[in-house]
Amino acid sequence: MLNIKISAGLLAISMVVSSVQGHGYLTIPSSRTRLGAEAGLDSCPECSILEPVSSWPNLTAAPVGRSGPCGYNARVSIDYNQPSTNWGKAPVASYSAGQVVDVQWCVDHNGDHGGMFSYRICQDQALVDKFLTPGYLPTDAEKQAAENCFEAGTLPCTDVSGQNCNYSPDCSQGQACWRNDWFTCNAFSGSKCQGVDNSALGSCFTTIAGGYTVSKKIKIPNYTSGHTLLSFKWNSFQTGQIYLSCADIAISGGTGASPTTTKSGTATTLSTSTTAGSTCTPAPTVAVTFNELVTTSYGQTVKIVGSISQLGSWNTASAPALSASKYTSSNPLWTYTANLPAGTAFQYKFVKVAADGTVVWESDPNRSYTVPQGCDAAATVSTSWR
Ligand SMILES: *[C@@H]1O[C@H](CO)[C@@H](O)[C@H](O)[C@H]1NC(C)=O
Ligand SMILES: *[C@@H]1O[C@H](CO)[C@@H](O)[C@H](O)[C@H]1NC(C)=O
Ligand SMILES: *[C@@H]1O[C@H](CO)[C@@H](O)[C@H](O)[C@H]1NC(C)=O
Repeated sequence: MLNIKISAGLLAISMVVSSVQGHGYLTIPSSRTRLGAEAGLDSCPECSILEPVSSWPNLTAAPVGRSGPCGYNARVSIDYNQPSTNWGKAPVASYSAGQVVDVQWCVDHNGDHGGMFSYRICQDQALVDKFLTPGYLPTDAEKQAAENCFEAGTLPCTDVSGQNCNYSPDCSQGQACWRNDWFTCNAFSGSKCQGVDNSALGSCFTTIAGGYTVSKKIKIPNYTSGHTLLSFKWNSFQTGQIYLSCADIAISGGTGASPTTTKSGTATTLSTSTTAGSTCTPAPTVAVTFNELVTTSYGQTVKIVGSISQLGSWNTASAPALSASKYTSSNPLWTYTANLPAGTAFQYKFVKVAADGTVVWESDPNRSYTVPQGCDAAATVSTSWR
C-alpha cells in the first residue's frame, strides 16, 4: 500500500520535471542577451540554455561546451561569446574596484526551477579578450578555459555585508545555505517565493509566461580593466539546465590588471593603479577583507569575532562567518569583508565552529586592528591560524 503511494508520487514529480522548461538571463547590467532581444534579433532571451547537463548539486561538473561563459541561444542560433553589431563592442557599465553595485536577472514564470546563481569576473584579460574581439568566435577550448577562470572568479555573496545569501554557491559545507535551493519553497506553484525575491510577475521581460526579477548586490573585485565581462550563471535545481549570460563592463581603480592607457598630447601615461592624488576624499567607510589561512575539517565553519558589534561583540553566536569559496587543500583560504568606519580600533580572533556548535578559539593574544583613515575604500588583512 505504502509502496504504491510513493511510486504514484514519484510519477507525478517526474511528469512535472519533463514538461517544464527553465528560463532566465542577466538584465542589469544589460547583458549581451538582453541587447540581442532589444535589437529584435533574439526572440527568446531567456532561452540560452546549456542542456542536458548535470547542474545540481555539483555546480561545476558540466563542461560549458559551445555555451561558453556568455551563452549560446540554439533557438535563434546566436553565440553571445562573440561581439556583434549590437553587443560586445563597448562596456555598458563602468564600476570602480571595491564598489558595491546592484545587479539583476530575470526568470520566466513558466520555468522557475530553483537552484543557485552566481556572478563571476575572470581576471585573466588575455582570456577575456578572446570574447571581445569583433569577428572572432572563441573555440570550445577557449570557452572552457574562460569558464574555469570565471568559476575561480565567483563573487562571494557574503562580500556584501548584511545581504541574504541563502542561495549562493559560496556557502560552505555545514552552513544552512549549503546547496540550498529556492525551488523547495516555490514548489512550482508560481506564487510562494517567485525567483527568490517574490517579485511581481511581469517585473522584467521574458517571452513565455512573463518574468520576475531577482535582485542582488555584488562587490566589484580589486581589478582594473577598460573592457571586461561580468558573467551570470544559474544552475537549475529541478532540471539539468544551466543558464549563462554576460555583460560588457569596465572597472577602474583596482590593481593586478592590464594598465589603462591615457593619452595626453603626444605623451602616453600608463597608470596601473589606485594611487590617488593628494586631492582625494577620505573614505568614511572601508571595506576590510580578512583573509585567514586555516585548515578545517568537514562541517567546520570559520568566524571572526571581536570587540565591535560588526564582529559580534565577542559573542561567537552573532559573529559573521567567513566564506570558503576560495578554499583549496593547498590554499586553505577563508575570507570575509566587513564595511567598517575609518579609524575604528578593535580586537578580534578567529574561531572554528563545528557542525554541533563546538567553538575552538585561536590562541592568545587577541589580534588588534585599526581601520585606515585615507583615500582607499578597501583594505586587506592577511593572517594564518594560530
Ligand atoms: C564536481 O565536478 C568536477 C568536474 O567533474 C569534479 O572535478 C569535482 O570533484 C566535483 N566536485 C564534487 C564536490 O563532487
Ligand atoms: C581578549 O579580549 C577578551 C575580551 O575583551 C578578554 O576577555 C581577554 O582577556 C583578551 N585576551 C588577552 C590575552 O588579552
Ligand atoms: C587593491 O589592492 C592593492 C594592493 O593590494 C591595494 O593597495 C589597494 O588598496 C586595493 N584597492 C581596492 C580598491 O581594494
